[in-house]
Amino acid sequence: MKIAGGKFAITGGVSLIGASVAEQLLEAGARQVVLFDNYSLSSPDMVQGIIHDGRIKLIRGDILRTNELFDAFEDVQGVFAIAGFLTLPLTLNPMLGIAVNVQGMVNVHEVCRYRNVEKVVFSSSVATYGETEAETTQETDPWAWSKQQPGAALYGASKLMGENIGRLYEDRYGVKSISLRYSSVYGERQHYRAINSIYIIDTYDRIKRGERPIIPDDGLEVHDYIHVADIARANLMAMESDVSRESFNVATGVSTTLNRLVEIILQVTGSDLEPEYKTIPGKIRATTSKTLKFSNRKIERMIGWRPGISIEEGIERVIRWCQTQP
Ligand SMILES: NC(=O)c1ccc[n+]([C@@H]2O[C@H](COP(=O)([O-])OP(=O)(O)OC[C@H]3O[C@@H](n4cnc5c(N)ncnc54)[C@H](O)[C@@H]3O)[C@@H](O)[C@H]2O)c1
Repeated sequence: MKIAGGKFAITGGVSLIGASVAEQLLEAGARQVVLFDNYSLSSPDMVQGIIHDGRIKLIRGDILRTNELFDAFEDVQGVFAIAGFLTLPLTLNPMLGIAVNVQGMVNVHEVCRYRNVEKVVFSSSVATYGETEAETTQETDPWAWSKQQPGAALYGASKLMGENIGRLYEDRYGVKSISLRYSSVYGERQHYRAINSIYIIDTYDRIKRGERPIIPDDGLEVHDYIHVADIARANLMAMESDVSRESFNVATGVSTTLNRLVEIILQVTGSDLEPEYKTIPGKIRATTSKTLKFSNRKIERMIGWRPGISIEEGIERVIRWCQTQP
């Protein structure tokens, strides 16, 4: 499917990821981009920079209401199914979080079926692997949830449901689908809802207040931090591609320790504060692995996507953005 000249809808259109996908769709020449969001977790402030582009249509609507989706998906060729509850909001409000992540995905697909939408690109997560112990995690690896906190496991389960709802609707009704399993996404417009990337912004906030950065345990916990612009590019490439009914890791394949992350943030902010090693009890955490590594070979082979932004460049971009915020 061509992006130029096409009409697309983004559920969760004013989210961290949705806003970045919208920006790239406009750059690629889309005819119209519908931003569908109920503003429960975010707000139209997120899309201030593009809202005045005549091709943007902002619709306040709820994916739990099929009539609202039906109106929004008129003449839409492709849907980016991005609306969802991350682990933190889902842990705080499981009833709504599970409804949005699971029933919401059924609704999106049901409406796509009746609106003849060709393809859905779904925002899934590497949370679908749980606390993986594989040396390099591939798309065929199973979900290992037994050592996880319940909120993190429920989030992973809800994403597995979302992926399989997509596969079912492709098999039964021909609505094509691709699921993108993101690692820890961060970037400009960073929010406080993402279980791992929140650490970047929390650390920046502490440094700004003149407080020492806090590093849990020995700081050797690793995450695969991926910049939101790389994620948005993967979304567009997945929509354009002829491939469907597949799940892909969208990760850099590079693990960064919390120690290194803090070092970069201190460097970019020009601070000489000494980090303090302290573990805060009761904090919600996803994985605390010291050896995490996600393979991105499948998406490179089948869709041609490769990450482009290093952690050093990405953190610099986020901090520069933070410095422009009131
Ligand atoms: N941020 C990450 O690190 C990450 C990693 C893996 C997967 N994901 C997935 O990517 C998607 C977007 O992540 P994000 O960080 O941009 O999240 P976000 O919290 O910024 O965005 C979620 C959006 O969904 C909207 N929303 C919630 N319920 C809705 C409903 N019922 N109807 C319509 N809109 C609704 C919210 O208002 C918000 O704008 C989510 O599905 C998330 O699970 C994110």
